[in-house]
Amino acid sequence: MNIKACIFDLDGVIVDTAKYHYLAWKRLANEMGFDFTEEDNEQLKGVSRVRSLEILLELGGVKKTAEEQEQLATKKNEWYVEYIVKLKPEEILPGVSKFLDELNDKGIKIALGSASKNAKLILDGLNLTGYFDAIIDGTKVSKAKPDPEVFLKGADELGLQPEECVVFEDAQAGVEAAKNGGMPCIGIGTAENLKGADYVMPGFDGVTFESLVNKLN
Ligand code: BG6
Ligand code: MG
Repeated sequence: MNIKACIFDLDGVIVDTAKYHYLAWKRLANEMGFDFTEEDNEQLKGVSRVRSLEILLELGGVKKTAEEQEQLATKKNEWYVEYIVKLKPEEILPGVSKFLDELNDKGIKIALGSASKNAKLILDGLNLTGYFDAIIDGTKVSKAKPDPEVFLKGADELGLQPEECVVFEDAQAGVEAAKNGGMPCIGIGTAENLKGADYVMPGFDGVTFESLVNKLN
């Protein structure tokens, strides 16, 4: 396979923010009087803020008006932002910085494909923005994963074909988005949670670009 670019999801792939999304949603659920487990949280990974709230309310069997939903989503985001403004470079996931440096050295293009509207805040805060040749985030897409829009826009901005870009994803919806776009996909997490990925690994620690390309062949 002739891979010319890597397109990364952000939350749970580059940085350990998936846990902060979880904590903020859990706090909101608890405030409404129901629990929200890590297993429930798998359904929210990769999903937009608005859709995440809808799923949360369905799980809790709670009905809210459109106006109340907007207030709840805003509240969740305020709590989430409180966490991410304090993010430290140590929360960049193990092996990620080294992997990005390797891609730079080898001339492999780098793009972001994230549903988050907070992506720039996170990348800037961690001094990672400079690595990216293209940044497609929640402010630039109209269709949520598993629609492939976010990744196809990334490939397009890089001037590459979808099959030349490998996607890294920690969410089932994201794996499906990559495959729907005709892209190879490497899952970050467990095969049980990431069905349909071409290869699954726990993270980037000790991983080289060449070793991954070999797994895809
Ligand atoms: C995705 C996360 O990256 O971004 C989801 O996996 C999150 O959990 C979504 O809901 C939207 O993020 P934000 O920061 O715009 O609320
Ligand atoms: Mg993610």
